[in-house]
Amino acid sequence: MNKVYEIKGKSKINGTINMQGSKNSSLAIIVASILCKDVVMLKNIPKIQDVYELIEILKKINVKVSFIDNSLLIDSTNIKYTSLLFKQIIRFRASYYFIGAFLSLFKKVEIYMPGGCKIGKRPMDQHIKAFNELNVNINIDNNKIIASTTSLVGNEIVFDVVSVGATVNAILASVFANNSTILKNVACEPEISDLIEFLNKMGAKIIGKGTSVLYIEGVNKLNGITYEVMPDRIVTGTYLIYGALLAKKLTIKNINSKDNYSLINTLINLGTQMDIKEHEITIYGLKEFEKANIKTDVFPSFPSDLQQIMTTFLFMGKQISLVEETLFENRFGFLKQIKKMGGKFFIYDNKVLIIPSLLKNSIVSCEDLRGGAALLLACMASDGTSILKNVEYIERGYEDIVNVLKSINVDIKETMMYEA
Ligand code: EPZ
Repeated sequence: MNKVYEIKGKSKINGTINMQGSKNSSLAIIVASILCKDVVMLKNIPKIQDVYELIEILKKINVKVSFIDNSLLIDSTNIKYTSLLFKQIIRFRASYYFIGAFLSLFKKVEIYMPGGCKIGKRPMDQHIKAFNELNVNINIDNNKIIASTTSLVGNEIVFDVVSVGATVNAILASVFANNSTILKNVACEPEISDLIEFLNKMGAKIIGKGTSVLYIEGVNKLNGITYEVMPDRIVTGTYLIYGALLAKKLTIKNINSKDNYSLINTLINLGTQMDIKEHEITIYGLKEFEKANIKTDVFPSFPSDLQQIMTTFLFMGKQISLVEETLFENRFGFLKQIKKMGGKFFIYDNKVLIIPSLLKNSIVSCEDLRGGAALLLACMASDGTSILKNVEYIERGYEDIVNVLKSINVDIKETMMYEA
């Protein structure tokens, strides 16, 4: 028996959503919090599977954790070095942030290779480059990473590729390094700025937040604080796209509208009516729209994480749309499922031509987190009742999504399906 969602199509979204905290910022900040070997209180942490996996790992390294509502108390006073060879490590991508944190805390780490959505090759060469240039010896055998250093020595590191993960790992490994580090060509995603804000409040010295160059002066100690994590800009974008297609009226509160300017611009160009405030947006669904041409890129361009959901949206256009995915090599996999619903498209290289299609109900399976959120939109938009399988992917990043969608008038329920 497996948990599935049963969704009655032609949803008429109407209501208000309070936005959850950011998955991708929370995961980086939770790992960064152990650097202070003190007590940290984090607010606005989403109740999602990736956070629960991270909590299980913290417990195994003698960190005390309590998670009540969306407040996470982390006491790393008695943190203990342990080889990070646990099954939780391979269940998601952000577990590899322990490499940077353990090098700063213990000057060594042994950890399984991380997991994460199969959306491309997802190499770690930029992480390895940064660690090598910080005086770390690092080896990867087939499924394990072993790294150590006599002392972390600050350096000037120029990334060849803009990488969120490599930027986070380089920051975590630099905060205590001898002398200072300059990181160039870093990721400028808002989640990176949130991490820098958090670390500086703990006593780190990082200059350049929001730019592609960071200057990090090594310090000796960080102190425990209370910190509120930023709203989730990808979940915000997800519900904005849902609303643009299916809402009579949808209000999304507790957001940072500025984090979604690229999507907002795309929706405005399609003719979408929105009341936009700094921390709240009300969106009114489109009666019809022509088409859009989307090209994903690093922040502040259109985010790769919203590409799959936007691609699904574009099947409802009156004309052919074009989507180009420049970050990941395999982020169109979910379209196999859209094809089962009657979606017509042509993929060539990293582009897809989307032919206007009437999607019909079907039984479809999630294969990754954001592709799952895209299939959920297809089920809500199609005729008839659909079944969505492997919904655990969606629950890795979207807090309480069934009840959130029920609260805005979507006919969705969780049920169990037996498959012979
Ligand atoms: C983070 O993944 C996010 N995950 C992803 O969100 C997001 O899609 C991605 O950043 C881009 O914004 C988390 O924050 C936990 P990257 P990450 O390193 O760090 C190449 C979601 O749905 N690259 O910025 O793995 C890589 O192949 C997830 O929430 C190298 O070439 O992404 C990719 O083409 C999915 N060498 C590009 O950079 C490296 O050493 C961007 O990857 C590292 C990356």
